[in-house]
Amino acid sequence: MAFNNKPKKPHLISFHSNVFTTLLFILAFTVPLLFLILHTSTSYLCKPPFASNKVKSWSGDLRNTLFAWNRLPFPHIQSPPVTLKIAVFSRKWPIGTTPGGMERHAYTLHTALARRGHRVHVFTSPIVNNNGHHPDVLTTSNDSPRIHCHEGEAGKWQYNKAWELFNDENQRQPFDVIHSESVALPHSLARNLKNLAVSWHGIALESLESSIFQDLTRKPNEPMSPAFNASLYGVVPKVLNEIRFFHNYAHHVAISDSCGEMLRDVYQIPRKRVHVILNGVDENGFGNDLSLGLDFRSKIGVPKNASLVLGVAGRLVKDKGHPLLYEAFSRLITKHPDVYLLVAGSGPWEQRYKDLGARVQVLGSMSPSQLKAFYNAIDIFVNPTLRPQGLDLTLMEAMMSGKAVIASRFPSIKGSIVVNDELGFMFSPNVDSLVEALEEVVKEGPKRVAHRGKASREYAASMFTASKMALAYERLFLCIKNNTFCVYP
Ligand SMILES: *[C@@H]1O[C@H](CO)[C@@H](O)[C@H](O)[C@H]1NC(C)=O
Ligand SMILES: *[C@@H]1O[C@H](CO)[C@@H](O)[C@H](O)[C@H]1NC(C)=O
Ligand SMILES: *[C@@H]1O[C@H](CO)[C@@H](O)[C@H](O)[C@H]1NC(C)=O
Repeated sequence: MAFNNKPKKPHLISFHSNVFTTLLFILAFTVPLLFLILHTSTSYLCKPPFASNKVKSWSGDLRNTLFAWNRLPFPHIQSPPVTLKIAVFSRKWPIGTTPGGMERHAYTLHTALARRGHRVHVFTSPIVNNNGHHPDVLTTSNDSPRIHCHEGEAGKWQYNKAWELFNDENQRQPFDVIHSESVALPHSLARNLKNLAVSWHGIALESLESSIFQDLTRKPNEPMSPAFNASLYGVVPKVLNEIRFFHNYAHHVAISDSCGEMLRDVYQIPRKRVHVILNGVDENGFGNDLSLGLDFRSKIGVPKNASLVLGVAGRLVKDKGHPLLYEAFSRLITKHPDVYLLVAGSGPWEQRYKDLGARVQVLGSMSPSQLKAFYNAIDIFVNPTLRPQGLDLTLMEAMMSGKAVIASRFPSIKGSIVVNDELGFMFSPNVDSLVEALEEVVKEGPKRVAHRGKASREYAASMFTASKMALAYERLFLCIKNNTFCVYP
């Protein structure tokens, strides 16, 4: 009998132990993370570090700062004290087509630095535009970056080929600073470069969080997709791997306050080598324009008696949280028939939104100038993203346009975007919590929400402009070139 029972038990244990190991792994990583988050929020409670967003009288060595450099004023002098020769490694260089956040960052930043007189050389994969021709960006003027495309297939990054081109140029005259967009330059090549800075547009520890949030939105009987399961199992080794190799990069730029904290506290990179510089958006492309917004509303047929107009922008995919918003909004309109939702973007969730009827206007992908009108036409912007990696530029664009936001309560968003209650609403990434937030907004009404929008605009204009970002990076690059520039002001 005893013999007969044996095979059952180990079977049971091994089944549980699989689930258990996963849970343990996940716990092992989220618990420190939660502490980190709690720690951050309590320190905010005791002493709001940036009740007003500017650090008025700060001075000292910039390498010791824990806050985002964007909070400091950088005087916009005509030309920098020293012009630098800068190398940029970017997997892609955006032309024509709507680029992703990382490419947009590289483009905005380095175009601005070149315009300020720095000699910027971009090492990237072959560029071919929509007509299959090499675009004329390759024949450049003095105040734009020089683009070096390696040979090969369009858009397919081969770092070793780019590295050869870099070495040729570096031998001609050495670069002052080298900038890698994420791991475009792998750590094996980066490890010996003292004058290198890498910008992280999302790290594996953030992906782990993202996986947790995404899986929690799965319905009870909905099976887990094999691809998602594989990524869930793969993410913990990725975190460990990153912690082991990240220190090979000399200087790290975190694009959110919370990412900076993770790099210092979990990845254990010495604080003097971690710098927080938030991304910026083109301040000329987005702004407050009441009549532009009203025109847009009437053009797309939003009735004058609409009590509130919500807006969402970006790719309409699952991990941007569209299942949440779809469900939450369908519930909301059963109670509030005069609330509207404008959807700027395209993707798999387009049809579902269309099925919701006249309360939802699906506008498709939009050009930058159409987007400007879109942001002005709405009362408040919703971003239900389930991916806490990096920071969504749409939140910054909406705030630059003078709109408050409704966003998932992620450490990145809480720490760098919705830094106080006036700027918007946050919700846990689940339908009930989002509905609750939406109800609150409806109750407040468009007048109060517009008032919040003013505060958002003020905060965004001081923090998220492309010129602010460029000046902060310039200062970092100068500091890497010569220590005397590390001392602020
Ligand atoms: C997920 O992947 C693991 C490891 O590859 C496997 O053991 C497990 O059965 C998978 N679970 C699901 C729900 O697919
Ligand atoms: C608002 O206007 C629409 C048509 O323009 C109408 O169908 C609807 O009943 C109106 N709602 C209210 C509350 O007046
Ligand atoms: C660093 O900059 C300061 C001030 O511009 C200058 O006096 C000094 O010579 C520079 N040092 C080096 C090593 O270039």
